[in-house]
Amino acid sequence: MLNIALPKGRLGEQVYALFADAGYPCPELLENSRRLIFENNPVGVRYFWVKPSDVAIYVERGAADLGVCGKDILLEYEPDVYELLDLGCGRCRMAVAGPENFRDNGMRSLKVATKFPNIASSHYERRGRNIDIIRLNGSIELAPILGLSDVIVDIVETGNTLRENRLSVLETVLPLSARLIANKSAWQFKTGAVNLLTEALKGKIKA
Ligand code: PRP
Repeated sequence: MLNIALPKGRLGEQVYALFADAGYPCPELLENSRRLIFENNPVGVRYFWVKPSDVAIYVERGAADLGVCGKDILLEYEPDVYELLDLGCGRCRMAVAGPENFRDNGMRSLKVATKFPNIASSHYERRGRNIDIIRLNGSIELAPILGLSDVIVDIVETGNTLRENRLSVLETVLPLSARLIANKSAWQFKTGAVNLLTEALKGKIKA
């Protein structure tokens, strides 16, 4: 049995469709219920719905053999897992955003609000720019509007949140997408099953 942690929400539904298409369906999973665990015994999979930012924790600690999470989580938290596959869905980017006319004059530390302090720090370290990180948990777009920060480093998908708050992308930090990750010992002890699943998924990933 492969235990697979899926990210709850819209990305999880896209990811589940890919797994089902690859021959690992579990139709009950789409029923609107509060259940979190679903099994398809004949196929040998057990799926869990997990909060997206927690998937890597379940996989790292072996509560799940496999999981799907964004590249942002892998870069930010560096969990001790194997990254097996880019699933090609959940595409978005990590970007620096702020008021359209914002120019960094380099005079003092740049105030950067973000949910991703490590990604933001490495980005500005590469540029040799001093920053003052303001770590927030959500609604990051408010920070430059209210003068809490100069800019934000955040995920941009459609760009709607920025537009509706009159902010613009100033710089792209990196492209992001959903990744299949594996627990290190599960990858060793369940190699056959993991490889079968990985190969089946590869055949279904859209370019
Ligand atoms: C994420 C991200 C942006 C928004 C980007 O926030 O932090 O705010 O989505 O998507 P868009 O470009 O399609 O508008 P999320 O919805 O996770 O909520 P949060 O504010 O609680 O972080």
